[in-house]
Amino acid sequence: MSKNLSGAPVSPPPPLSLSGPRFGVDAPGFVALTGAAGTASCLAAARWRRGRIPAALAGSVLLASTGVYLHTTLRGKLRFWAGELDRIGLKGDEELLDLGCGRGAVLVEAARRLPAGRAHGVDLWSGADQSGNRPEATLANAAAAGVADRVEVHTADMTELPFQDASFDVVTSAMAIHNIPAREARRRAVEEAMRVLRPGGRLLIADIWWAARDYAAHLGQGTLRPLGVGYWYGGPWLGVTLLHVVKEH
Ligand SMILES: C[S@@+](CC[C@H](N)C(=O)[O-])C[C@H]1O[C@@H](n2cnc3c(N)ncnc32)[C@H](O)[C@@H]1O
Repeated sequence: MSKNLSGAPVSPPPPLSLSGPRFGVDAPGFVALTGAAGTASCLAAARWRRGRIPAALAGSVLLASTGVYLHTTLRGKLRFWAGELDRIGLKGDEELLDLGCGRGAVLVEAARRLPAGRAHGVDLWSGADQSGNRPEATLANAAAAGVADRVEVHTADMTELPFQDASFDVVTSAMAIHNIPAREARRRAVEEAMRVLRPGGRLLIADIWWAARDYAAHLGQGTLRPLGVGYWYGGPWLGVTLLHVVKEH
């Protein structure tokens, strides 16, 4: 499938312009609720005589958590994926699949490093999971980043991928698989990711820590790396861990 995997790694592209693609906000209802609850608690603390301190404390924690969440979804995850895609040393001609691509935060960064390859995104376009989630938005972001010719989007369920075995050199997924409600179905999505990966290919899944641990336990292989405050959805309780698997030959 790859044409030039023995070549030198592709050079990292310059950072995306802030006026370029717009990748939306993950789980917008959740962060809106946290922000509203934080604001209400602070207002209550300003008015109440009794319970002022607990209300102020709760409000401060909720507002700080909202800020951390917004930083992650608007900047932190983009910074992480740009660095990680550089770190794995793509040659530039790989076929890459992004599961639950949404508006293309990972897909577009990957495509920028694939001048002779292709980045495929799969999604069911849930607006609850990401604001403005539509295939047209993803393709518009690819065009804004100048990589429309290397990006394809597919409407499909990641528990049943419409691709043949060993079709991809790299499979990525960012904060997507945990959205599948049933554990068995989440595990099926991870099995599907391994099925479509070629031997020697890499699987990179960034997901909430408890979910990533379960995928690693299910596969019985791979390394786990907590990604720190820059990829916390509000706090360590929703911190993201990276599972990295290299498929055996
Ligand atoms: C929180 S968003 C993350 C999007 C993108 N990976 C990112 O980091 O910006 C989760 C994505 O997973 C998608 N998704 C959820 N369940 C899915 C499924 N069973 N198959 C395909 N996509 C799914 C949602 O539609 C949404 O786009």
